Amino acid sequence: MSSPSFANPLLNPPARPLPRHVAVIGAGSIGPDIGYYLKSALPGLELTLVDLQQAALDAALARFQGYADKAVARGKMKAADAQAVLAGVRGTTDYDAIAGCDWVVEAATENLALKRRIFADVEARVAPDAMITSNTSSLPAARIFSGLREPRRATVTHFFAPAWRNPAVEVIDWPGADPALVAHLRRLFCETGKLPLVTSDAPCFMLDRLFDTWSNASARRRGRAAASAIDSVAADYVQAGPFFVLNLAKGNPIIVETNTLQADEEGEHYRPASIFRSVDRWVTVGPGQRIEVAGDVAADVRDRLLGVLFSQSVDILDRGIGSAADLDIGCRIALGFKRGPLELMRALGEQETARVLERFVRERPGMPAPRRALADYQRFERHVLVDDVDGVKVITLRRPEAMNALHDEMTDEILDVIRRHESDDAVAGFVITGYGTRSFCAGADIGRFPSMLGDADASAPYARDCSRLLVHLDAMSKPVVAALNGMALGGGFELAMRCDAILATRDAWMQLPEVTLGILPGIGAMVVPYRRWPQASAVFDGMLLRAERLKAARAHELGIVEALAGDAQSLVAAAVARVRELARAPRKRPVPDSAVALPPFSGEIGAGADGKTLSRATLALMQDAIRAAAAAPTLAEALEAGYLAFGASACTAAAREGIAAFHERRSPDFGRTG
Ligand code: COA
Repeated sequence: MSSPSFANPLLNPPARPLPRHVAVIGAGSIGPDIGYYLKSALPGLELTLVDLQQAALDAALARFQGYADKAVARGKMKAADAQAVLAGVRGTTDYDAIAGCDWVVEAATENLALKRRIFADVEARVAPDAMITSNTSSLPAARIFSGLREPRRATVTHFFAPAWRNPAVEVIDWPGADPALVAHLRRLFCETGKLPLVTSDAPCFMLDRLFDTWSNASARRRGRAAASAIDSVAADYVQAGPFFVLNLAKGNPIIVETNTLQADEEGEHYRPASIFRSVDRWVTVGPGQRIEVAGDVAADVRDRLLGVLFSQSVDILDRGIGSAADLDIGCRIALGFKRGPLELMRALGEQETARVLERFVRERPGMPAPRRALADYQRFERHVLVDDVDGVKVITLRRPEAMNALHDEMTDEILDVIRRHESDDAVAGFVITGYGTRSFCAGADIGRFPSMLGDADASAPYARDCSRLLVHLDAMSKPVVAALNGMALGGGFELAMRCDAILATRDAWMQLPEVTLGILPGIGAMVVPYRRWPQASAVFDGMLLRAERLKAARAHELGIVEALAGDAQSLVAAAVARVRELARAPRKRPVPDSAVALPPFSGEIGAGADGKTLSRATLALMQDAIRAAAAAPTLAEALEAGYLAFGASACTAAAREGIAAFHERRSPDFGRTG
């Protein structure tokens, strides 16, 4: 693969403008969903759906209307926005309608000859530089596009169901493609809320290679266990077992196609099980359901499922088909795995992983075995991307499934990157930013809270422990600049406020929503703002006690945000320049050590910015903690007051209610808990 560009797609300069007119060819199951994603992300876009069947086009347009109606009914979209999404969409059976498109996405049947015919028709009608992409899940780009006059503007963009919502898209970096095209598609997808995963041009690319062989291995194991038993065992690893997914996607013929392709290219061991040709629907269990499976059968099936998964994973990495981080995140996001294969291997340990792999390769001769020591496959950053821009390390938080929320492992990765480069003279300092355009960081990972709630011995140490990165930032010798590319919530804002400077895009905003969850922002927010920006203490009162939002422009006026930028690329460029400037002088600690006099709290206390009643217990703990922290003679003592107060808040009935309400997607009832 040739990917000299930055790991964070938005750091690459735009090679083309955003598309204005896109045609999607094929109004079957996935084509219209791709179109709907594009229209939701770029409502001004003109979208032409092309199909030979008028009925398919009518159904596609009805689907658009249905999605938009649902989004409005659920409050996810305003009625006017829905209208914009639906405007400028047309269905046609006439290929001539694609003239003038700057991007044509093909989502027709998985058939090489058909696709080549379609692309010949497309190329005859669009400009020589219009982008052309295929949504094939298996056919190599070199084969599809080799007949084009201008193949450099063509590649595969492989979406995952449901394509209007599933963020994963494989972008194939094949030798015939212009590297600028791949960089542009990565950027375009990242900007429009997708997660582009670059893979090489191997048959089935990265993720379907896993899914197809996982399905094939499952079908081959049916001599030992029924489909429902296999799906029940698979439920330990995936949201839905292979047979359930095959039913859902009517996937048996596709597995025959793709595994035959792999078998023809890479060896007989990939040949699809013959049962795929005779079975239409599998009798199996749905997600969340299981049948009882005898211990020895379950163990056998588990070994087979993990064996194929691990064997394919090491092969993907050994052949450079995709990267380790993309493999793990792609399996979770695109294929519904509970954990990525490398994470699973790490959790099982080397000995058990080696046993599973050895057994699998022994029983299925020809299947790939690891070519390196197992530990070697685990050396990669899982949750951050690291780029070198002009001698500055740009760390991008990348957990799109949780709006880049921070958890222990991500915290440690950031800390590791900083420690690794801190004493390197070639590195001026660091920028921390978030992946995409929507979120810098949505705070601490709420999913991990419940285990600590109510445990007084665990909760204050938890906050102290979560602070390890921030305490390091306080004292390090190289500058760190936060580049807020979107919302910075809770712990995300707490991270930014410990950096030497905060820069933000114009539409970024900050919020401390903890009080609405019945807890306190325990790793600095009750301490640092009052010491660092005393001129804005009334604003921080509102943020802490009412969860009021602070827009970047207002934060700039108040001196909290140093500078505003128009987009992520100029934001990071400005942040890099700021790091280099700061690096010229010895670093001053960003947060003052001394106590600060607090004015009385401003504004009404009792309800949040949204008018909903807050917890009296949480608010009382918060006010006490803010006052104690302000009076503490050193920063360390002030922070300690915050950890203890967080610990106390985590043991209240309000915290239990607030966190449960977030998980259950409802409003908390603090009137009941106090
Ligand atoms: N921890 C873990 N997961 C988080 C998260 C966090 N702090 N913030 C968002 N997510 C997850 C959501 O659970 C959701 O996951 P799902 O798709 O599996 O259900 C996903 O990110 C998208 O969030 P969603 O709420 O569907 O998007 P939205 O656009 O409606 O709202 C937010 C976005 C950020 C405003 C909302 O998610 C939110 O309020 N998050 C909590 C922020 C917070 O309180 N942070 C401080 C924590 S101490």
